[in-house]
Amino acid sequence: MSAFLSGLAPRPADALLGLMAAFRADPREAKIDLGVGIYRDEAGETPIMTAVKQAEERLLASETTKAYEGPQGNTDFCAAIEEMVFGAQSEARNDGRVVSFATPGGCGALFVAIMFAGRISAEGRIWASDPTWPNHVNLARSTGRELKSYSYVDAETGAVDFPAMMDDLREARPGDIVLLQGPCHNPTGIDLTPEQWAYLGDFCAGQLLMPLVDVAYHGFGAGLEGDIAGVRALLDAVPEAMVAYSCSKNFGLYRERTGCLMLQGGAPRDVAAGATHLADIARAAYSMPPSHGAAIVATILGDGALRKAWQDELDAMRARMQSLREKLAAALEAETGRDDFASLTAQNGMFSQLPLAPQITELVRLQQAVYLPASGRINIAGLSDETVAEVARRLAPYLTAPPEEAEG
Ligand code: LMR
Repeated sequence: MSAFLSGLAPRPADALLGLMAAFRADPREAKIDLGVGIYRDEAGETPIMTAVKQAEERLLASETTKAYEGPQGNTDFCAAIEEMVFGAQSEARNDGRVVSFATPGGCGALFVAIMFAGRISAEGRIWASDPTWPNHVNLARSTGRELKSYSYVDAETGAVDFPAMMDDLREARPGDIVLLQGPCHNPTGIDLTPEQWAYLGDFCAGQLLMPLVDVAYHGFGAGLEGDIAGVRALLDAVPEAMVAYSCSKNFGLYRERTGCLMLQGGAPRDVAAGATHLADIARAAYSMPPSHGAAIVATILGDGALRKAWQDELDAMRARMQSLREKLAAALEAETGRDDFASLTAQNGMFSQLPLAPQITELVRLQQAVYLPASGRINIAGLSDETVAEVARRLAPYLTAPPEEAEG
């Protein structure tokens, strides 16, 4: 008998990764995966983007070493991501008030940022939207931070319930972290307006709160510039902030673990001090970041032709998701006779939430072989022109009646 392990209560599988495993194990041929957020093309594949493939070919021919890069990783990558997020004219960058670290994915950036929160304020709590990405909850728990929730969606209007959100955030204490999602909110697809971002910046500055912006779907909503305008408005309004950036979705680099943590401070000296803590945390967690994905991104963003090819492909992915949103809304309206699915077309990015209670999502999985997490979130990019009508047909019976009636 083991001294320690026998006393451990097993943890439930991660909400999204558990679903991914269950989908793989399901022998039914008609199964449809609308679970984990992975972009798929019309054939259901997640191909390597053309610019990525070309960058990899160049790297294969030109790379001469695999020696360590250092705690910040590829500094060309960091500078290119900073420029996309802060803009070429950013005062904070020009003043030397921004430092960046390449990280193992956006999640690595969030981990370092949340650990750093403990260095800023030992009692600091993390405020996240309700609902949010389940791994935000896990990150707070695993780093020993208390998680608080702020209201997010107004069920009546389908927009952000900004007054309710602000009411909740007024309970935040100096030193708390306000975790905000950049474009394409996960799981709702409902985003803050640039005015709301600017307001939040002023609010965080006034209340001595540290914003942490999670940017995981840059380019999937309104394009690269349109998507980041709100984040920039916040960064302009607040002296100190952190941004966790993921290249998993917009560069399709899921398994390469390519992310970046950016820290903006009020003065270059503060940022330099902050950087020593970020380096310290990174060193303990993973020592140095992986380099391959960052080198790919740096190669693409540093070359006009590759950059254009990447943007064109990203634009096509966004247009495809938008078209699938329109088709799904029309198909659901046709199947259910309800006229309230138009909001799907106004939402952004890969995700939207359908009004399905957790136990109903389980029924949908068992009876219809359609996989979606308990939140009722669907991965729009998991649909195709071929499956969209079929998905609507399978989901319709569960959407027609409120959950209580559907159950009975
Ligand atoms: C998702 O929410 O499905 C994606 O962000 C993938 C993940 O790691 O959970």
